[in-house]
Amino acid sequence: MNDLDQLVSTATAEFDAAPTPAELENAKARFLGKGGRVTDLLKSLAALPPDEKKRRGAEINQVKARIEAALQARRDHLADAELQAQLHAESLDVTLPGRRRGTGGLHPVSRTLERIEAIFGSMGFDVADGPEIETDWMNFTALNSPKNHPARSMQDTFYVDLKDAEGAWLNLRTHTSPMQVRYAMAHASQHRGADPMPEIRVIAPGRTYRVDSDATHSPMFHQCEGLWIGENVSFKDLKVVFADFVRQFFETADFDMRFRPSFFPFTEPSAEIDISFHSGPLAGRWLEVAGSGQVHPTVVRNFGLDPERYIGFAFGMGPDRLTMLRYGIDDVRLLFEGDLRFLSQFR
Ligand code: DAH
Repeated sequence: MNDLDQLVSTATAEFDAAPTPAELENAKARFLGKGGRVTDLLKSLAALPPDEKKRRGAEINQVKARIEAALQARRDHLADAELQAQLHAESLDVTLPGRRRGTGGLHPVSRTLERIEAIFGSMGFDVADGPEIETDWMNFTALNSPKNHPARSMQDTFYVDLKDAEGAWLNLRTHTSPMQVRYAMAHASQHRGADPMPEIRVIAPGRTYRVDSDATHSPMFHQCEGLWIGENVSFKDLKVVFADFVRQFFETADFDMRFRPSFFPFTEPSAEIDISFHSGPLAGRWLEVAGSGQVHPTVVRNFGLDPERYIGFAFGMGPDRLTMLRYGIDDVRLLFEGDLRFLSQFR
């Protein structure tokens, strides 16, 4: 091996021994840099006679090209190794199970509300929604509970520290019954002049509030109001509609239903609706499921309608209680504590 071949193999060996690109560049400088060995060889040409210079020059240029090729080969190798290391470090193990998001579910009371809406919807009832902060007139007066009337004390009311346009304290609605008034007034004015007015058929589910808290009462609870007003709507219709609702809601026809005389200021006559299942865990007990009655003429007048002509019924039921009956829950507070150990059972 002549001196030039020796130089190529030394350079190649040093390049191949450089573990990093930076060290490779240092090795390059030793051969191809300003004071490098190839550069020194080229400088040494100056001392040679012309013939010799030409031959030796061509040889040195070949050597330089071989060293540069060895350098490039090592550069490529190092870059490739770096890429491989990076790919390896960032590799994804696609066989690992993914991280799942916990699946949520509807709250049991929401399920009940959806069922109620679907069932009454299928019977041609509209679904209405309204404010939870109510005026005194909507929550009480329009529903035939005048100021200072003892009937108002049937419901322990939360008041809001704000007065309405009439100077009365606003309240957190104690029931969904004010939605009868809001909906019927809007319906009556929308159809003013229509003869006869199209019937009112609506349910109004939502949150209601009373100063009350124990195993069967929550200060926030749900109600669902129902109202059907027309020229010829009677208790018979209420019975049919409500029995059909119970049958669909509890998925059984195996029950008795009774109307038990009661009192509400906004209905006359008034009745509690009780049901009693013939089989299942609730069998044999009378369960109160709704208040109801024929809408009082004063209330019909407050709707903006003629009570001599328009008549009908209303009912109010408790979706929380329906939920408890359907799922066998014995403490209403479980529904509103937000404990996932309880709620996740309904997913
Ligand atoms: N608003 C009544 C309550 O909160 C429930 C009720 C009873 C609503 C009779 C009605 C009804 O519409 O006709 O106890």
